[in-house]
Amino acid sequence: MNQSPLTEAEKKQLITKAEAAWKNAYAPYSKFQVGAALLTDQGKIFTGCNVENASYGLSMCAERNVIANAIAKLGAKNLKIRAIAIANNRKVPCSPCGACRQVISEFGTNINIIFVSPQGYQHLTIAELLPQEFSALDIF
Ligand code: THU
Repeated sequence: MNQSPLTEAEKKQLITKAEAAWKNAYAPYSKFQVGAALLTDQGKIFTGCNVENASYGLSMCAERNVIANAIAKLGAKNLKIRAIAIANNRKVPCSPCGACRQVISEFGTNINIIFVSPQGYQHLTIAELLPQEFSALDIF
């Protein structure tokens, strides 16, 4: 599905929301608080943050939590993701991990991702971040 290009105003607004969202993170182990803000095609914004666990491997990233939050509120069939912005408390470069790239890809290949790069906030599509994602919908 084609989308109009993300505007500077949309980017700014999403970054502001992601920067507010990391403040809610539960990250007592890494102390690395991550926030994500998701913009739908309908102009709705949802936020999420990372939630860690004493059993480290059970920790959940902000990106997957924001998708779960949007689905819980909207219903999966109504979710069309336009963009996701990610921010962190350390203001260090942090692009989505491989697991999150795969999960984001489930919901579209032209989703805009805004993340902190060594040059400041950078904008790429999820297909650029994860070319040739695994897609099982064609198999089952
Ligand atoms: N984390 C995220 O929430 N998103 C990312 O894109 C990278 C990593 C979290 C997972 C863990 O709680 C903490 O950051 C340190 O890895």
